[in-house]
Amino acid sequence: MSAGELRAQARACFLIEPAAAKVAAVAALAAAAPTLRLDPGARFASAAPGRPAAPLLVPPQDVGRRSMATPAGRAMLIHALAHIEFNAIHLGLDAVWRFPDMPPAYYHDWLRVAAEEAQHFALLAAHLATLGHAYGDFTAHDGLWDMAERTRDDVLGRMALVPRTLEARGLDATPPLRAKLAQAGDHEAAAILDIILRDEIGHVEIGNRWFHHLCRLRGLDPESAYPALAAQYQAPQLRGPFNLDARRQAGFSEDELSALHAAY
Ligand SMILES: [Fe+2]
Ligand SMILES: [Fe+2]
Repeated sequence: MSAGELRAQARACFLIEPAAAKVAAVAALAAAAPTLRLDPGARFASAAPGRPAAPLLVPPQDVGRRSMATPAGRAMLIHALAHIEFNAIHLGLDAVWRFPDMPPAYYHDWLRVAAEEAQHFALLAAHLATLGHAYGDFTAHDGLWDMAERTRDDVLGRMALVPRTLEARGLDATPPLRAKLAQAGDHEAAAILDIILRDEIGHVEIGNRWFHHLCRLRGLDPESAYPALAAQYQAPQLRGPFNLDARRQAGFSEDELSALHAAY
């Protein structure tokens, strides 16, 4: 990555279409970040993420069913996870370039998230290759990016709905999925999910930290602001079982954890 400004470079990565080139560019940007100029005041024209021509994006109900009983079903599942991570790269980069006037640490945190998502994608894509497939071989849906679109005008809404809601759901969903993959004999995939879970706790923690920072700035009580934002942005209904340990490590309060239990 050539010398330049960090947020402009994050936007340039966001626009790259080929998956492998995007992964490499994000890794290079994260490595160069400490020496790059940072302009928190810069404003950029809105943009949609660059993507390869495949996978074809379809409505969620049109994505094929995934049974882990067969290698083909497992490949579809790994593909779906790779697609989530590909979108997560965009979410990390988007948090960097779209929202101005945040402290420098905010931009470095979200660039680190983008770089970890790129690693997750690369691990899953490499595993998919061992199953005889590549990213783009199956259809995919775009639910995760949809929430980024909905919250593009407010960084508080973004922190509430993306890391604190969607990525936190990933903390709940990963252990049962990991168990199923291990049971199907795919220990490689299970080991990748261990790395992902570890890193995702960090992403939710970053989201929690900046959510609380923004609530303080705006004079909001975080525990009443969250349900209001969840309603405003039509957060998906949460379903247990919840990974309370991981959520606790990611900075949710005991009151929030017991509210989860009480509400669902
Ligand atoms: Fe990830
Ligand atoms: Fe993440």
